[in-house]
Amino acid sequence: MEMFLLLIISLLTLFVSVSSYNVPAIFTFGDSIFDAGNNHFIKNCTAQADFPPYGSTFFHYPTGRFTNGRTVADFVAQFIGLDLQKPYLQVEMEIVKGIRRSYPSNGVNFASAGSGVLRETNMDLVSHVPIPCRYVTGTAFHAHQLSFLTFNVGVTQGVMSIQKQLQQFQTLRKLNKIDKKLIRQSIFLFESGSNDIFNYFIPFEPPTLDPDAFVHAMLTEVGNFIEQIYKLGARRIAVFALGPVGCVPARTLLPGAPITRCYGKMNRMVKNYNLGLDSLVKDIPNKYPGAVGVYGAVYNIVQQFRLTPKHYGNATPLHVLYIRFSNTSSACCGDGTLRGMLQCGKEGYKICESPNEFLFWDYFHPSEHTYMLISKALWGGKQSWIRPLNLKTLANITLTPS
Ligand SMILES: *[C@@H]1O[C@H](CO)[C@@H](O)[C@H](O)[C@H]1NC(C)=O
Ligand SMILES: *[C@@H]1O[C@H](CO)[C@@H](O)[C@H](O)[C@H]1NC(C)=O
Ligand SMILES: *[C@@H]1O[C@H](CO)[C@@H](O)[C@H](O)[C@H]1NC(C)=O
Repeated sequence: MEMFLLLIISLLTLFVSVSSYNVPAIFTFGDSIFDAGNNHFIKNCTAQADFPPYGSTFFHYPTGRFTNGRTVADFVAQFIGLDLQKPYLQVEMEIVKGIRRSYPSNGVNFASAGSGVLRETNMDLVSHVPIPCRYVTGTAFHAHQLSFLTFNVGVTQGVMSIQKQLQQFQTLRKLNKIDKKLIRQSIFLFESGSNDIFNYFIPFEPPTLDPDAFVHAMLTEVGNFIEQIYKLGARRIAVFALGPVGCVPARTLLPGAPITRCYGKMNRMVKNYNLGLDSLVKDIPNKYPGAVGVYGAVYNIVQQFRLTPKHYGNATPLHVLYIRFSNTSSACCGDGTLRGMLQCGKEGYKICESPNEFLFWDYFHPSEHTYMLISKALWGGKQSWIRPLNLKTLANITLTPS
């Protein structure tokens, strides 16, 4: 009987948590931080995470996500009570094959690993790397350069830029494959820019723009994205800052980057970009009547983990978060200095025993534990983590008609 009551109570809470938010769907745009498997469906593209041990902690098989489990986009969906959003290219394939007839009612994930907010960054690299987006083989390269090149090759072709992702969404909207009312109630997640900034430090070609002008060009693209997504009907828009990209273990691939500390020059660009995002979001209510924008200060959240890797419970500035990292500098999975010189899963990789004790899962990407803590901070966090509203409030507000 007790068990039965418990079951009923938990079913009731489940029901309540599913029905209490007025958000039917999530549409996700960005890079490998959010990619749920889109790149797996891009032929010959090397920016992949569709092999073991990716996904091994949570899904227990590779899904194309660049971590050992769920991403921030996944956690947000779960907090709202929605099923995880499928990759756009998977949905397209299922429709072509006749496995499904319509687009999912819980939203779509358009994010593509290796992509950026600037199209030019990647085009510039093509002339210097005359290899298409397929796996580089051969012994002409030193292992160090090989992983360096495969990363770049992955970036140069095949991946879907933020403009391309927008175009895909626009097409679905124009063809009325996604209902306008659904779009209006949905949450839109945006996170992109770390590939543009990381590429800025790759010495194939001296950058033509100085750091400030480069960041400015990036922000112009984000501004356009917000405008377009609004015009297509988006009203709840969440823009996430970049984390400290200069701290990723993969910085060891860059000549001149420090090993024992983060790459300050890179983090300075990231911080400038983030400041720009913050002010773009502040402008949303003025420029776009009826829309609500929130800015997630991911950089500050991650820096908190690095500063206080072992805080438990209410004593932490994150309140109910249980932060416990034994290692905030190296990747769990990879090889070379900081395990940042070889992609996880590639021949010769090494892996740690407890991935979720690591801030970084692989050379570029956080572990699922890191993503979970970030998600909690964004979901229920205070103004210094996410502003002017947290995601929980964003999901529960009533939109004003416009
Ligand atoms: C992928 O690579 C194969 C083998 O190199 C090539 O024949 C094919 O045309 C490529 N496909 C695309 C879409 O680039
Ligand atoms: C972090 O993990 C790497 C890889 O296992 C190891 O070499 C390094 O010593 C660890 N650092 C700390 C501070 O535990
Ligand atoms: C949503 O907001 C209403 C008040 O407008 C409140 O009663 C309700 O508890 C909130 N739901 C959640 C899940 O926070």
